Amino acid sequence: MQFRRVGDSGLVVSAIGFGCNNLGRPNSPTQDITTAVRVVRAAVDAGITFFDTADAYGKTPGQSEQYLGEALNTVREQVIIGTKFGMDMRGSNGVDFGARGSRQYIVKAVEASLRRLDTEYIDLLQYHTPDPLTPIDETLGALDQLIADGKVRYIGHSNMSGWQISQAHYVAKELGRERFISAQNHYNLMDRRAELEVLPAAKTFGLGVFPYFPLNNGLLTGKYRQDAAPEGSRLSYVRQHMVTEANWEQLTQYANFARERGITEVEASFSWLSAQQPVASVIAGATRVEQVQQNASALDYEMTSHDLAILDEMFPSPDRVALY
Ligand SMILES: NC(=O)c1ccc[n+]([C@@H]2O[C@H](COP(=O)([O-])OP(=O)(O)OC[C@H]3O[C@@H](n4cnc5c(N)ncnc54)[C@H](OP(=O)(O)O)[C@@H]3O)[C@@H](O)[C@H]2O)c1
Repeated sequence: MQFRRVGDSGLVVSAIGFGCNNLGRPNSPTQDITTAVRVVRAAVDAGITFFDTADAYGKTPGQSEQYLGEALNTVREQVIIGTKFGMDMRGSNGVDFGARGSRQYIVKAVEASLRRLDTEYIDLLQYHTPDPLTPIDETLGALDQLIADGKVRYIGHSNMSGWQISQAHYVAKELGRERFISAQNHYNLMDRRAELEVLPAAKTFGLGVFPYFPLNNGLLTGKYRQDAAPEGSRLSYVRQHMVTEANWEQLTQYANFARERGITEVEASFSWLSAQQPVASVIAGATRVEQVQQNASALDYEMTSHDLAILDEMFPSPDRVALY
């Protein structure tokens, strides 16, 4: 396993992480706690140290954190737990009026996450999605206090645009607050919009990036066909349109690219993502032990500059598209 610093910070994570939005997800093999714990522990055994969850994940909010806490309680000091607040908790943190970046809400949300994760501290607390009501200085003030109290080690954000990343950086600097060290955004070979604003902003302000949906919900694994989804796979029970509407000519070229190099499509996707600056860890969601093991070794293949150029032609980045 490779390890990387998250941006300019002192937090070090495995370059392949484990995304926990499958824990407690209805219809997924990891919807029950026994299977979920087994899959998470397989990730630890495979050398993964970074686990990314959120308070909102699970059939009922909080379930993913609870399963993760159970799975990691014997190895707590050896792993990095990232969680998030700010999505709708369906009332479990009380009435919030949508102001989930507010001081009062954050304190409540973090206390609940600590309880479910069965831990005294959160390594990386991420603001899941910007709240349009609360000024960022109030959010940063509350997060700064949680770090001072020892309940949180580092803070990050998710789903912010370039200008929001820049604003948060300068407000923290002006007020002398702890600053965000990471950005978590939608990013994979088939959706490279993060390259327009988010990656350049993250690089400029010393943030590490965690790409989410790294396999585009599984489409980039090679297990789907235009007219068939394997039984029990995610796109067989949600977002089925992604399979029928995908660009299959492009996906066939991609399958050939991987085959010619003797690697899997998962390896190609993860190696490509981890070659993009400033990606810190690819948070791979998995529902089975074998998937975890495959994902954990995906960086054994290192992309050459020729490989990267071919993939650039195959999956053009949006700024290149705009130029033509
Ligand atoms: N910040 C945000 O707003 C946000 C949003 C979404 C996700 N995330 C984070 O990003 C993480 C990753 O995203 P994701 O899990 O939704 O999407 P993803 O990584 O694009 O896709 C995950 C799916 O791919 C399949 N898969 C994984 N490894 C495989 C392998 N080796 N072989 C075959 N299939 C494999 C599994 O599908 P099956 O279910 O078919 O087995 C899994 O459910 C999440 O867990 C979460 O932590 C954050």
